[in-house]
Amino acid sequence: MLRVEDTQGQVEFSAALITKFDDVVSRYPEGKQKAGLLPILHLVQAEFGWVSPQAMDKIAEYLDIQHVEVYEVATFYSMYLLKPQGKYFLEVCRTGPCCLNGAEKLMGYIEQKLGVKEGEVTADGLFSWRGVECLAACGFAPVLQIGPEYTFYENLTPEKVDKLIADLTAQTKN
Ligand code: FES
Repeated sequence: MLRVEDTQGQVEFSAALITKFDDVVSRYPEGKQKAGLLPILHLVQAEFGWVSPQAMDKIAEYLDIQHVEVYEVATFYSMYLLKPQGKYFLEVCRTGPCCLNGAEKLMGYIEQKLGVKEGEVTADGLFSWRGVECLAACGFAPVLQIGPEYTFYENLTPEKVDKLIADLTAQTKN
């Protein structure tokens, strides 16, 4: 995955990515290209790991819409990441059923284990985490998902978090 670490950096969309944009836009009637904004934001996030202001500007230019039309959508939906994240991005459910089953303690444990606060990235660039609203797996609380593939991990305990982080770290080194 390409990553834009410098938030001031310029963003260039590859020809392959533009082809994917074209495919999205082709699904909508002439003049309604803005309807492709959500999937295009997803494509950009998959390519760069997050959606920078520069990327939003370029999307606006591609779709021939106002820059603010991209900003208002990207900032509304929490699934769009507006800051660079770790290679593994842990999203911990913090809604009622998960909280009743220890989600808050779990977030505290993850913070202490990784040594970074919510939204920060570990020094090795491997991990970041944040609390999110219901992940629709309440029966398996507490749960988290890990981007960019959004794999689910359920019935979490500190021991399971330890194993998860150890496995992902080892996976990166192999
Ligand atoms: Fe956590 Fe629904 S409350 S998955």
